[in-house]
Amino acid sequence: MHEIPPPVQMVQMLAGFQVAQGLYACAKLGIPDQLRDGPRTSAELATAVQADPASTARLVRTLASLGVFADAGEGSYALTPLGRTLVSDVPGSMRDLALMWMETHYSAFGHLVEGIRRGRPAAELHYGAPFFEWIAGEPEQVNRFTRAMANLTEGLKSAAAATIDLEGVATVVDVGGADGAVLAQLLQRDETLEGIVLDLPHVVQDAEAATKAFGLGPRLRTLGGDFFQAVPAADAYLLSMILHDWDDESARRILANIARDGRPGSRVVSLELVIAPDDQPHMAKMIDLTMLGMLTGRERTAEELEALVTSAGLRFDGITATPSPMSVLHATVK
Ligand SMILES: C[S@@+](CC[C@H](N)C(=O)[O-])C[C@H]1O[C@@H](n2cnc3c(N)ncnc32)[C@H](O)[C@@H]1O
Repeated sequence: MHEIPPPVQMVQMLAGFQVAQGLYACAKLGIPDQLRDGPRTSAELATAVQADPASTARLVRTLASLGVFADAGEGSYALTPLGRTLVSDVPGSMRDLALMWMETHYSAFGHLVEGIRRGRPAAELHYGAPFFEWIAGEPEQVNRFTRAMANLTEGLKSAAAATIDLEGVATVVDVGGADGAVLAQLLQRDETLEGIVLDLPHVVQDAEAATKAFGLGPRLRTLGGDFFQAVPAADAYLLSMILHDWDDESARRILANIARDGRPGSRVVSLELVIAPDDQPHMAKMIDLTMLGMLTGRERTAEELEALVTSAGLRFDGITATPSPMSVLHATVK
């Protein structure tokens, strides 16, 4: 097999920032949306998105070389399955994630060196406040963040959530549930299940329309609150991409509140990206870099997750792998 020489590999990796910005520009301008109905030339695309024709042509050519577009002949381009993930509001879309990452995370990562030296999130140095505090004052980005989380639900969490069996459970609370996209999937599978989405008041308020759009009526309710203070009583607690946002002490506080406010026997199911103790590529290690840059949290090994859950006063029942990169951690309120 033809091996790429290490210097060339390194240039390609270092160019990652350009690729990310190129994908962002493409998504923000709405170029993939313009290809929904079939191939178009770069000149037609430039006119449609009101951009410079020569610059648009070069952007599209580069992204085509990465598999985002395909040459459709006579100077026109078509969407590939990869490019379709940047179309807005289609199943499997990652467009909101592209916009969110580049509008709230990209510039924060400029502080990564200082953050690693000081052991602080780069975002906190960049914004002058912890990320979730800063974003609370940016309504447009709150909405974008929730939509990006919903993108990830379809792309990443659904296959993991599909393995969760809530037999015998009447009420489940989605702790830090954003618009409730993950919880809605559980409710869609089980018509007897009722759910409560608990998130910060400004988040549930902003996501109200998206939550209602799941069409689950009164079975899916929302509750503005703070999981560091209290959680409603329920038979089960769903956490999806929550523990990884927080340092051990804070994550323990969330779990301890569940241990305190839950009923004896209440179940805890948490979608986790588990770090394997090897040097193999895994999404957990990439998202751990996101946590390092943005929040005080981290992805954890199975042993670290067990220790965290146990130290919060819950019974640890194990971690199961799923067809997605995410695993499901199971615990019980004693
Ligand atoms: C990484 S997102 C995960 C969202 C959702 N569980 C999912 O998987 O799509 C973390 C969520 O925690 C929420 N959150 C942060 N601090 C919170 C707090 N103190 N109380 C309740 N929710 C909080 C955020 O608003 C955000 O919706």
